[in-house]
Amino acid sequence: MSPVPLPRQPFCDGAHRTKAPDMAPLRFSPEKDGGALLCACKETRTPPYCDGSHLRVLLRDLLGAARRLFK
Ligand code: FES
Repeated sequence: MSPVPLPRQPFCDGAHRTKAPDMAPLRFSPEKDGGALLCACKETRTPPYCDGSHLRVLLRDLLGAARRLFK
């Protein structure tokens, strides 16, 4: 079995055109040099930057999986 290629998040690969037509890429220009964490989960409240919301997504997914496991 070949590995499933990972999406090239957070960069647009055009997949939204078919999977989420209402979604559009967010164009931005960094205001200063330096490191930055870009959101790859699409749940951030401060796009395009990561605000830690991915932890809430991870917890939600884990709880959902646990509920399905013990259903
Ligand atoms: S990767 Fe989306 S909030 Fe961190």
